[in-house]
Amino acid sequence: MPKRYKIAVIPGDGVGPEVMNTLLEILQVLNLPLDFEEFVIGEKQYLKSGTSLRDEDFEELKKCDAILFGALSTPSKDYPNYKSAILGLRKGLDLHANIRPIINKKKNIDIYVFRENTEDLYSQKEFFRKPGEEAVAEKIITKQATEKIVDSAIDFFRKNKRKKMTIVHKANVLRTSDGFFRDICREHLDKENIPYNEEYVDACAYKLIKFPENFDVIVTSNMYGDILSDLGGALVDNLGMLPSINKGEEHSLYEPVHGSAPDIADKDIVNPYAMILCGAYMLSDLGFEKESERIFKLIDDFVEKDITAISVGGKYKNSEIGDKFKEALKNK
Ligand code: IPM
Ligand code: MN
Repeated sequence: MPKRYKIAVIPGDGVGPEVMNTLLEILQVLNLPLDFEEFVIGEKQYLKSGTSLRDEDFEELKKCDAILFGALSTPSKDYPNYKSAILGLRKGLDLHANIRPIINKKKNIDIYVFRENTEDLYSQKEFFRKPGEEAVAEKIITKQATEKIVDSAIDFFRKNKRKKMTIVHKANVLRTSDGFFRDICREHLDKENIPYNEEYVDACAYKLIKFPENFDVIVTSNMYGDILSDLGGALVDNLGMLPSINKGEEHSLYEPVHGSAPDIADKDIVNPYAMILCGAYMLSDLGFEKESERIFKLIDDFVEKDITAISVGGKYKNSEIGDKFKEALKNK
């Protein structure tokens, strides 16, 4: 019997279920050996069971071959002991690389951000040193996590014959923590003979807008990667075009960079491309190269033909864009 793949599906909140539904319908047309299993995490789960991510779900997610993730809303209230489910998954599944492709062929933009995904300020080690007076957040940079992110970026660089790497940091101020990150990156890139330059994150933000075509692969820590990837959304017109691949040695989770956008939810106007791109990257990672290429190509064709969603100024509903994919995939 040919192998079947178990795909975890986390639609989430807001526009998450809408874009997920579009992707799943597209995947269904391809008739691949994929079995889908749905999970409820986040605030909805917290309200049911008192935790945003149940242990039994976490154990089950570990057994899946890939995880598709829509979007989760920030909880509506400050619940006691609430923990972010997506941050829990990134750390718990050791998804050390958050890979964020920022691509727009027409504008000659082709950037891959390799964002460290498990530590930095996202360690959430925060406390009041003096209640009411002084709050502290620890920025954690470890050798292990930094080596993993730079090595993932190097691996990608080689496999895809990329041209240049940029280390992004702020070591002029954070001399110890960012200096450590920079030095580890330098050491690995030097050893592997990878051409690279360095940018401070503030200058990088400026240059990304002014000269996006000068960037190729970016390697950076968690918080800077978060901020620069939203900036990337503006570069390629809108955040609804950006997918992300959360990758570890054992697990992969695919999620749009955009959030749950409650203001446009349930109207069928959301832009589904980021989620569809997530699906295409997942298929490629699972070895379904041909199907993945077909989807990537259709995305290019459709964007070229201005088949874009209402929420981003286009004419099409989310479900209509999905229908166009299904039609095109059936007719071949
Ligand atoms: C992202 C999001 C998350 C992050 C939030 C929702 C925790 O902004 O995936 O970029 O900060 O990483
Ligand atoms: Mn973000």
